[in-house]
Amino acid sequence: MWKAMNETLKVIQRRRSIRAYRPEQIANQELEAILEAAIWAPSAMNQQKWHFTVIQNKDMLQRITDVAREVMKAGPERMAQRAASPDFSPFFHAPTVIVITGDSTGRFVRIDCSLAAQNIALAAESLNIGSCIMTSPELIFESEKGQELLEELGVPEGYAHVCTVALGYMDGERPPAKPRKKEVISYIRS
Ligand SMILES: Cc1cc2nc3c(=O)[nH]c(=O)nc-3n(C[C@H](O)[C@H](O)[C@H](O)COP(=O)(O)O)c2cc1C
Repeated sequence: MWKAMNETLKVIQRRRSIRAYRPEQIANQELEAILEAAIWAPSAMNQQKWHFTVIQNKDMLQRITDVAREVMKAGPERMAQRAASPDFSPFFHAPTVIVITGDSTGRFVRIDCSLAAQNIALAAESLNIGSCIMTSPELIFESEKGQELLEELGVPEGYAHVCTVALGYMDGERPPAKPRKKEVISYIRS
């Protein structure tokens, strides 16, 4: 598949969704570079109607975890079981969590936010920092308590959760690559 290779392509190839993190915090300089990459993502008509809430506060992460546990308890069996584990963390114990919200009225805002999320993941990988883009925190943030948390976090009015990115130094090796479908590309050529 990879018929050409350079530093950018290597980073794309190397990135994995990481679900085990070391507890130490990532360096501020690294975080700032990752956030810069986020806001350099393209957005429809350059509207940039996104917001990035960086959470590194342990108490706040615990409070989000508590809401997640409550919400997931009422969910399907597998979800309830995961939440019941004493070691449960919706973000796999990542020390940095970026909640990406976007203006709910914008037609393309979910795409804009997704592109920013991928920039975050690739910038992180380029710095040897693990990431996991997640939509499951939607369950947390659409609950009443989750909505209150978003407000407390200072998310702009009218903005809704699009995805959350967990970030941290990887605990161990990157997992093996998940298989990719090859038949999803078609060419229309003369
Ligand atoms: C839109 C989106 C939502 C995702 N949501 C979750 C999630 O809620 N929890 C999770 O552990 N991984 C989540 N992932 C990660 C995917 O499971 C992962 O990207 C996929 O299995 C391919 O593995 P890779 O990222 O390591 O290449 C999500 C990825 C995307 C793009």
